[in-house]
Amino acid sequence: MCGIVGILGTKPVASQLVDALKRLEYRGYDSAGVATLDHGVMGRRRAEGKLQALELKLKDEPLPGNAGIGHTRWATHGKPTESNAHPHATDKVAVVHNGIIENFRELRDKLIAAGHKFASETDTEVVAHLVTDYMQKGKTPIDAVAATLKELRGAFALAFLFAGEDDLLIGARKGSPLAVGYGKGEMYLGSDAIALSPFTDTISYLDDGDWVVLTHTSASVRDAQDREVKRPIVKSSVSAQLVDKGNHKHFMAKEIHEQPEVVGHTLAHYIDMVGERVALPGKLPFDWTKLKRLSISACGTAFYAGLVAKYWFERFAKLPVEIDIASEFRYRGAPLEEGDLALFISQSGETADTLATLRYAKEMKQHVLSVVNVTTSTIARESDVVMPTLAGPEIGVASTKAFTCQLSVLACLALAAGRARGHLSETDEKNLVRALIAVPRLMSQALALEPQIEKLSHDLAKVKDVLYLGRGTSFPIALEGALKLKEISYIHAEGYAAGELKHGPIALIDETMPVIVIAPHDRVFEKTVSNMQEVAARGGKIILVTDPKGAKEATIESLETLMLPEMASTVTPLVYAIPVQLMAYHTAAAIGTDVDQPRNLAKSVTVE
Ligand code: F6R
Repeated sequence: MCGIVGILGTKPVASQLVDALKRLEYRGYDSAGVATLDHGVMGRRRAEGKLQALELKLKDEPLPGNAGIGHTRWATHGKPTESNAHPHATDKVAVVHNGIIENFRELRDKLIAAGHKFASETDTEVVAHLVTDYMQKGKTPIDAVAATLKELRGAFALAFLFAGEDDLLIGARKGSPLAVGYGKGEMYLGSDAIALSPFTDTISYLDDGDWVVLTHTSASVRDAQDREVKRPIVKSSVSAQLVDKGNHKHFMAKEIHEQPEVVGHTLAHYIDMVGERVALPGKLPFDWTKLKRLSISACGTAFYAGLVAKYWFERFAKLPVEIDIASEFRYRGAPLEEGDLALFISQSGETADTLATLRYAKEMKQHVLSVVNVTTSTIARESDVVMPTLAGPEIGVASTKAFTCQLSVLACLALAAGRARGHLSETDEKNLVRALIAVPRLMSQALALEPQIEKLSHDLAKVKDVLYLGRGTSFPIALEGALKLKEISYIHAEGYAAGELKHGPIALIDETMPVIVIAPHDRVFEKTVSNMQEVAARGGKIILVTDPKGAKEATIESLETLMLPEMASTVTPLVYAIPVQLMAYHTAAAIGTDVDQPRNLAKSVTVE
């Protein structure tokens, strides 16, 4: 998760760019850089380390120019060196980028074959060369960007500055956020309104797939099909607090939409994107090969993340997993063999039951590993090793982005365990890592289902009970869907393993009961179809969340099908979480509950 900024100004911009970057430093801070245009001539300064290093460099070697772009980096592809720092540039264009370009390898090979010379290990540099390639073939800067955007796969935000074009700045957004700022004879781009707050409070947020052509006095926004579109211009209220809702009505909506970005950011922390391997930061104080058992403990949504992880650890690492809700674990007196591993998952890092279980595990001489979002929390402090989720502050009481970031970290841990224990070949690991790298893009595609889900949610808002079904790793997603719906809409909902249906809950099915079936086309899909048939035979209304293959083979009349793209089955829990979150959100919004602060709940549960 890097921070980007762009200014088309009326006075020298280098120090303004640095000012804006300071506000974005929370997004990443291992290197930084700026590029400016002075009467058409491009200049660039970059430095390894915190922003201060760039400031010092600019003092020694000032950079004139009234237009510029800047970047603060959190390394994904390539080490945090000066040559990997952004902006990346050719003689024609400079680019700053936040996110992941998934197909950079293919593009780079093609461009190298065409004679382009690369100076960094980053995925970003292909963007600069691709635009240059189109310009060399005669396209204008705007047309070159339009053509380039169509070739890029991934989730990202970009800003472009062109040599010889003092009145042009282009921004693009696909998966990662980008805001346009309107000034007096000046225009701005920034990863968020916070970056732009020293310059303007008049902001327009780009929609996913949008790109924008800025001059000093105009902003022309185009959608993914290059049609000119208008996006609302709003007054940002960011200055008081460093968190705002952006274009969203609720923090929960904002946090759902942040997932492609924060999951990409989290994955980048645990994956060597160039080597396509898992690379856990730091050294582990235990040896995966010596473990006999892994105990996982957490509460609520975090517990469901742990349930998914159980499938992964057992499949990839052949490591037996015991998992329990923390409030049960702590009083069960479970025997734990000395030297095994206990894993705790918590967004807040303060949940009383989880913390008590952690202390019990320590007494039982377990190695203690925690996956937390708040790294200064008590659970983090009391753990032997902490694997942070880089979700950023989660304000909505119902957990959304923290859940998918937990899943991201847990998947990487399971792959690391699988490799260490000799159950994953290098090729298997590479394929699984590639599947994880695709998740931010797949999440963006899942978010595109929102209009259909919103419509459907108006009907869900009228029902009294909802049943969620899933098998394998979709079972915890069914549980999570039910929890999300009940906590914010106050509609009674239950999540069940699809195979358990006929052992009880089938008695509830009638024509008033919506049954939401989470069923990607994976190895248990056929079994889930049989369970759907049992529901259909009793008049239950099925809402099927699946993919094109699943929809084709389901052969069931569903009330509605939510169609996600096809993907590797390992990553389905991360992507299928999005439609269940959106269903809960829009149902609650239709009912008019207090979505961000539902009754009786607290964000951090520090009592038993
Ligand atoms: C549900 C939700 C809760 C939390 C649970 C654990 O949307 O947010 O179920 O997941 O209270 O909280 P943490 O993760 O802070 O330990």
